[in-house]
Amino acid sequence: MFGSGSSCGLPVLLTDVYCKTLLVLNKPRYIACLHYLWGKTMGKKRVCIVGSGNWGSAIAKIIGKNVRDRSELFEETVMMYMYEELVNGRKLTEIVNTEHENVKYLPGIKLPDNIVAVPDVVEASKDADILIFVIPHQFVKTTCRSMAGKIKKDAVAVSLIKGFDQTPEVGIQLISTVIHDMLNIDCAVLMGANLAHEVAEEQFCETTIGAATEEEGNLIKEVFETPYFRCSVVTDAQTVEMCGALKNVVAIGAGIVDGLKMGDNTKAAVIRLGLMEMVAFGEMFIPGCTRETFFESCGVADLVATCHGGRNRMLGEAVVQSEKTLKELEKEILHGQSFQGPLVAREIYSMLELKNLTERFPLFTAIHQICKREMDPRDFIECLRNHPEHL
Ligand SMILES: NC(=O)c1ccc[n+]([C@@H]2O[C@H](COP(=O)([O-])OP(=O)(O)OC[C@H]3O[C@@H](n4cnc5c(N)ncnc54)[C@H](O)[C@@H]3O)[C@@H](O)[C@H]2O)c1
Repeated sequence: MFGSGSSCGLPVLLTDVYCKTLLVLNKPRYIACLHYLWGKTMGKKRVCIVGSGNWGSAIAKIIGKNVRDRSELFEETVMMYMYEELVNGRKLTEIVNTEHENVKYLPGIKLPDNIVAVPDVVEASKDADILIFVIPHQFVKTTCRSMAGKIKKDAVAVSLIKGFDQTPEVGIQLISTVIHDMLNIDCAVLMGANLAHEVAEEQFCETTIGAATEEEGNLIKEVFETPYFRCSVVTDAQTVEMCGALKNVVAIGAGIVDGLKMGDNTKAAVIRLGLMEMVAFGEMFIPGCTRETFFESCGVADLVATCHGGRNRMLGEAVVQSEKTLKELEKEILHGQSFQGPLVAREIYSMLELKNLTERFPLFTAIHQICKREMDPRDFIECLRNHPEHL
């Protein structure tokens, strides 16, 4: 079903026999070798962050520091594309560039002063070698349309975006595939149990980089890894990305359990059944999907974190406690941010319906119907009693 956008081919000399030998014999020296080759032979890399919401700003804090600390590899200034908004009559870009704080999307956290907010995505990205995509998935196509033909031909992308794209012609597509196809560049992914405000506060967590090869993943790791943000690399990139989108749907289910005032046992059952549907979905639709990937941070860890703390869980709870529409709840709870879970649930549902598979995925199906207000949330648990996992 999914086309691959992750044939990431960073043009470095990492196939060098010396480097390969070091990888087997001595990992720290391999990393040093990688620094040397990447920094010395290819010139310093310029990083651009495409997006500046809650997660975009949290990751900007990490990237701003890393490019300074690894100045042999990276240019110091990092452009950050920011969709312009007025906050108390002032442009948000101006606030970020003078006060070094995204007062709307990540208040209370200082950003390094080498992060420069730019309201024009072409201006921000035209000279970049590494493009970090971190906008809500519904804006990917319009953003890529503006960038197409105006970026470096050998740039590479890393998508931190959780969600799918869907069109009537193609059906569901991974966001990395959309980026790859629209910009004609390779695209890796980074996903994990990474609630933005906790990462911004430097609380320890893990994440997963999905790249076409381990070498490429290790290069990308240089941009992101810190002692409090530990990155592991896998080559099953499509599964990594799929986990990042689907866990938001399961999190709505966890929120519904909270809204129904049920306890931890029921929530754990919803999380487990949700995980089993994620695995079944991956095995059905992703070529080369491996079960091990679900045990990485992008899989079970992200699922558990999101089912306890994320905004989609909050939505599930609110859907039970109020009669309001999703749009009204979004406005009331998130003040400008967006719920990704209902969009993904709708995209998944239309695909499952088309393939006559809704009965195989009762949790995904029920969550979509509840979000659409076509099912009473009080019937949620009822429709899980005869889940295929129990038959
Ligand atoms: N927030 C988290 O904890 C977290 C963690 C991991 C991954 N993610 C993923 O990161 C991605 C971005 O999420 P976020 O939390 O940073 O976003 P957000 O919901 O905080 O912010 C929305 C952003 O979209 C921008 N925007 C609004 N209209 C736009 C338009 N027409 N075109 C382009 N941009 C527009 C806003 O300016 C803002 O920067 C999502 O895919 C999300 O799932 C989020």
